[in-house]
Amino acid sequence: MAVKFSDLGLVNSRELFAKAIESRYAIPAFNFENMEQIQAIIQACTEIRSPAILQISPGALKYVNPTFLRHMAQGAVEYAKELGNGKNVPMVLHLDHGTTFDLCKDCVESGFSSVMIDGSRLPYEENIDLTRKVVDYAHKYDVTVEGELGVLDGIEDGEKTESYEYTQPEQVEDFIEETGCDSLAVSIGTNHGAHKFRSGQEPKIRLDILAEIEKCIPGFPIVLHGSSSVPQDLVHIINLYGGQLKDAIGIPEEQLRLASKSSVCKINIASDGRLVTTAMIRKFFSDVPEEFDPRRYSILVRNALKELYIQKCNIFGSSGHAFD
Ligand code: G3H
Ligand code: ZN
Repeated sequence: MAVKFSDLGLVNSRELFAKAIESRYAIPAFNFENMEQIQAIIQACTEIRSPAILQISPGALKYVNPTFLRHMAQGAVEYAKELGNGKNVPMVLHLDHGTTFDLCKDCVESGFSSVMIDGSRLPYEENIDLTRKVVDYAHKYDVTVEGELGVLDGIEDGEKTESYEYTQPEQVEDFIEETGCDSLAVSIGTNHGAHKFRSGQEPKIRLDILAEIEKCIPGFPIVLHGSSSVPQDLVHIINLYGGQLKDAIGIPEEQLRLASKSSVCKINIASDGRLVTTAMIRKFFSDVPEEFDPRRYSILVRNALKELYIQKCNIFGSSGHAFD
């Protein structure tokens, strides 16, 4: 029997995005795959009163296990309630980069409140058909759907791709009309992973293309993927303690701050969380090589993740908007 997201205490993204666009901020969507990450997201969003979007990729969902995940989501809502003295910040559970109709259907039926169907690599008409099929199904359960137009490069969910295509502004209106999707991920120069630009290339996204897209679909929710900033202090710590991250470059925060003032209402962050985790653990083992209790480093990771998440909410402007 299908599990309704509202029974788990989750919300879909519709109202959250409408408010974000109206007040010109974006909500960070944090990828997770373990307990400490979820705890850090809830702690951060509760403390600064931001809506929370917890998102999980198909690979991470497999890693966690879908049944286990459903209970984690329910636990996350109860934990948020506990931290918020009986009132939890609104929380969306989102499938990131859904690849097939069947996967989206399974997620809709197991309590996700939002799904992405990523048909961006398909020919345009096939992307429309697949996205519309998911929308038709998901909307029966009031689950919101993110589609994508344009192709990003980089490493996402362990897969490396190199076939960048900017979103064509002249396609977006037709795409959202034909599919009925609730939000649209676009390609404007962001990339997945920790190596978003080639060495020597100016780290810049195409805010001009974003403005063109907005003109074609005014007030429609836009999503940015591949938006980690790859903080250089973290790269430095990782390399200092034995890592080998060469030419790791992310999206400058100032550009994301500017983007969040537009109809961009969701900004995806995965790699920065991974960098924080790796930096903390590498340093820990170098500082105290005799230590072997995982709680000793996991708590450092969780605290550092919480700080990172708070910082993102502040930059994108979602802090203080949980109960608007
Ligand atoms: O879907 C997830 C995000 O687009 C990840 O982007 O690698 O820049 O964190 P990121
Ligand atoms: Zn992505």
